[in-house]
Amino acid sequence: MQSSQSNYNRMNQPFSGFSKLSKEDKINWIAKEYFSTPNEAKALLKQYWNSDAKIQKLHDEFIENTITNFYIPLGVAPNFLINGKYSTIPMAIEESSVVAAAAKAAKFWSTRGGFTATVMNTEKIGQVHFTYKGDVSKLELFFAKAKATFFDDTASITANMQKRGGGILNIELRDKTNLIPNYFQLHVTFETKDSMGANFINSCLEQFANTLKREAHNYQSFSEEEKNIQVIMSILSNYVPNCIVRAEVSCPIADLQEKHITNPQDFAERFVQAIQIAEVEPYRAVTHNKGIMNGIDAVIIATGNDFRAVEAGIHAYASRSGQYSSLSHAKIENGIFTFWLEVPLALGTVGGLTSLHPLVKLSLEMLEKPSAKELMQYVAVAGLAQNFGALRSLTTSGIQEGHMKMHLNNILNQLEATDEERIQVRKHFKEHVVSHSGVVNFVENLRK
Ligand code: MEV
Repeated sequence: MQSSQSNYNRMNQPFSGFSKLSKEDKINWIAKEYFSTPNEAKALLKQYWNSDAKIQKLHDEFIENTITNFYIPLGVAPNFLINGKYSTIPMAIEESSVVAAAAKAAKFWSTRGGFTATVMNTEKIGQVHFTYKGDVSKLELFFAKAKATFFDDTASITANMQKRGGGILNIELRDKTNLIPNYFQLHVTFETKDSMGANFINSCLEQFANTLKREAHNYQSFSEEEKNIQVIMSILSNYVPNCIVRAEVSCPIADLQEKHITNPQDFAERFVQAIQIAEVEPYRAVTHNKGIMNGIDAVIIATGNDFRAVEAGIHAYASRSGQYSSLSHAKIENGIFTFWLEVPLALGTVGGLTSLHPLVKLSLEMLEKPSAKELMQYVAVAGLAQNFGALRSLTTSGIQEGHMKMHLNNILNQLEATDEERIQVRKHFKEHVVSHSGVVNFVENLRK
């Protein structure tokens, strides 16, 4: 190994060929170079390996340079009544209060008509970004003539997708020269049915790029300069404002009454005001939407979808007016409280990790093998439930009460509390507000 060479110094030299080392050698190198107690580091990394070699190999091969697995809990939130049917939603997340809040909101709404979820549309987008120097009307004429060839050249890529009812919906030429000189796009819309469609879309786009260059080169009416189209890049867009799902809850204001909501009219009004603040105030909107993403990301991760793509697309959507704003809305009309959310979600229930990761398969089975549209509904509902839970706490008792109650376990684990200490702590903090320092002081006193 390179690290054993006497003059090797990781601080000022790259390590060439790291990816070619065996997993064991990678771990040895990391342990030796970065840890004061290399054997402990190695033991910890190996402790998180799966005892089933087949499962471990699967995880090793998801990415490059895998040294171990990184756990986050997979929890479930039961009692979600969605479009008249009960479901249990799997959620993979590390934040203490998220699953508890989802389950509580699900139970609350299950006795008030449940959630309604509707997929509004399912269009995905991809673009070929290119430069063209010349007469724009000639480019437009060229595109009109070549358009059918773009479809013909991708026929072998789209055949299977077409059998499933999907494919390329439209190809447009877009003139972007007002933004960057000579900049144009092929702006393409797709229907990808139950797959997220990234590979399908990118394969089509790369073929479009080749077709564009070839056809332009052979187009007699173009000058030599006009023929010389330069494709800058071809890639799907994670901004999918026409792939929208709506989730909603609604009930007469009086029905909002429960143990913690003694004055439902006041609660509903404060709730609507809290949403209005997130609609107009970006500082609040970001945190408000972060709470929604607590629910959304947890289901996205449990079902093997790409949470970075979803996050990027949703936040772009939240900014579509030019100002970052709330994803959810609420109103009171004729004594009825209505609370809803609209989010763009490009999801898949086939392809990608969905058939590879054993826990993703399990999560999808728990959701009764949903179509992509059904998964969009579950995810949006989880986001709305989370937002309801957060706003209910924020506008009544405050967030810390519930949050710290859930976080108590983490504090006790940090302090390595014994079973007896845990009993004492729980008893004490039933009557007192939980805070980190309060728990530390209490345990320190017990230990005196
Ligand atoms: C914490 O993870 C999420 C909240 O801050 C969301 C919100 O403020 O609406 C509680």
